[in-house]
Amino acid sequence: MPNIAIFASGTGTNAGKIIDYFKENANIHVVLVVSNKATAPVLELADESGIEKMVISRQSFYETEGLLDALRDRGVGLIVLAGFLWLIPDYLVRAYDKRMVNIHPALLPKYGGKGMYGMNVHRAVKAAGETVSGITIHYVNERYDEGGVIFQATCPIAPDDEPEDIARKVQQLEHRHFAPVVEQLAQELEEG
Ligand code: GAR
Repeated sequence: MPNIAIFASGTGTNAGKIIDYFKENANIHVVLVVSNKATAPVLELADESGIEKMVISRQSFYETEGLLDALRDRGVGLIVLAGFLWLIPDYLVRAYDKRMVNIHPALLPKYGGKGMYGMNVHRAVKAAGETVSGITIHYVNERYDEGGVIFQATCPIAPDDEPEDIARKVQQLEHRHFAPVVEQLAQELEEG
């Protein structure tokens, strides 16, 4: 089974769910947490679970391929972006074609693209008067939020829901579905 690396920039609630989920799995291991922020809470989650962590700089990420060596050294076969906000450089997209997935807190292709993350997304969904939102898990390509869709789940939006309410509903979907979808992908990769 492929080892998993999680890339995350922030709080890491999704990373935490995935880490916990695979603790029960003897075959699939989260071996590395990568963050672009030295102070990101997700790094504490990695520590607590005894998972190796790595902080990357913009310069090393975009101007070297050192991360690729680090991933290969650890046998990483699947990269999971869980709230990682930097655009993925070409060398990494090519090396992990169909083996790198992202979660987005809306129903792509709507409400994606640069700057569309976190509450920005939920505010835009509210402003547009949508009655449904949800999550999209998709392959990563060289453009923000445009890789092929793997999985979507939806939640209803009530007329008086504020962006914070939408965020809560969407987060529930993320926490429920992300890890099982990653597990399914890992199994498919193993089976070739
Ligand atoms: C998640 O809601 C994820 O969908 C979003 O960042 C959040 C990270 O939360 N990603 C994007 O908006 C990507 N464009 P977490 O740190 O609590 O897992």
